[in-house]
Amino acid sequence: MSLRPFVVLAVLTGVIGSPNIRPEAEVDPSAHPNSLPETVEETEIFGQQVVLAKEEVEEDVMATGELNPSHYPAQRAAKVVQHYLNTRYGSPYRLYGQQMVHSGNAEDVADSGRKYQLEISVQEMISNTTEKCSAEVLFPRGEQQRSAQVQASCEELLKINTKDQEEALYQQYKTNQSLLSAQHLPDRCGHMEPDMKPLWHLCIVASSFVMLNESTENTLYNMAQVANITQLATENDQLKFDCHILLHEMVSQEIIHWKLLFTWSPPEGVKVLQMEQLPHCHHCEKPPNTN
Ligand SMILES: *[C@@H]1O[C@H](CO)[C@@H](O)[C@H](O)[C@H]1NC(C)=O
Ligand SMILES: *[C@@H]1O[C@H](CO)[C@@H](O)[C@H](O)[C@H]1NC(C)=O
Ligand SMILES: *[C@@H]1O[C@H](CO)[C@@H](O)[C@H](O)[C@H]1NC(C)=O
Ligand SMILES: *[C@@H]1O[C@H](CO)[C@@H](O)[C@H](O)[C@H]1NC(C)=O
Repeated sequence: MSLRPFVVLAVLTGVIGSPNIRPEAEVDPSAHPNSLPETVEETEIFGQQVVLAKEEVEEDVMATGELNPSHYPAQRAAKVVQHYLNTRYGSPYRLYGQQMVHSGNAEDVADSGRKYQLEISVQEMISNTTEKCSAEVLFPRGEQQRSAQVQASCEELLKINTKDQEEALYQQYKTNQSLLSAQHLPDRCGHMEPDMKPLWHLCIVASSFVMLNESTENTLYNMAQVANITQLATENDQLKFDCHILLHEMVSQEIIHWKLLFTWSPPEGVKVLQMEQLPHCHHCEKPPNTN
């Protein structure tokens, strides 16, 4: 089990705030080959270390004033900006990943929560364009659980024109006699058929809605895998999809299952109609082709 030392190391570097965190890594199909079930098992074995990491991380959260750009608090806030950009501007051909935090600042805002001000580099992954952006993330405080509020100015990244590609894909999905469906994107070996990539990107954008809504100062969400996605028949111009996703929450090292119903069309973008967290279960974390 050569994986064990690796996982311990990953957890411990989390404690001190690793400069090596690469939040965009999980969006790269080659970056997470077959580590998913193992990670879950190892997490149970090293449960103690994970708890330790969590406590340390919560202390970190109180960090106020200038932040270390490579430590968790700045990284987590920056991740929320990435999810926000995907929910606003993401498409099968436009996907935001974050490259780097240059600087960050956190402050308490009387009664309303905590505000992070960040200078980050955001990458549009498909065109491989990077831009330095200013962003602000407010994590609301209070009884009611409300999502983080985000503002970000990345004008150059929004200008990337993907209209023609989107229209062509839309027509292809719309006119095909059979409804699309796929499983395990990417598969256990990190592989994916090229014509499945736009569908996978759509699912990542949809899952950013969940990750934006679920994120707090104490979380760091990444998309781990699309377990399956099914196109549903519709009567209007919106294409409709049902998908089952696995999210990786890196602070708790949990794999969390969600079921999403969303629509897409080039003019309307991705709209999530329903999101439902599925009960935690150990067996369903293993893809069926595990041996
Ligand atoms: C993305 O762009 C950077 C800098 O322009 C380059 O170094 C890198 O190789 C590119 N990556 C891909 C996957 O094309
Ligand atoms: C239509 O769907 C089938 C089954 O999913 C697929 O094999 C075929 O390539 C699709 N055709 C187009 C034009 O996308
Ligand atoms: C976000 O989560 C809250 C609960 O935490 C829920 O009430 C709300 O409906 C969710 N938002 C969306 C868009 O589903
Ligand atoms: C999708 O994947 C989940 C998790 O592996 C599974 O429970 C569910 O039955 C699958 N649904 C379909 C339609 O294949």
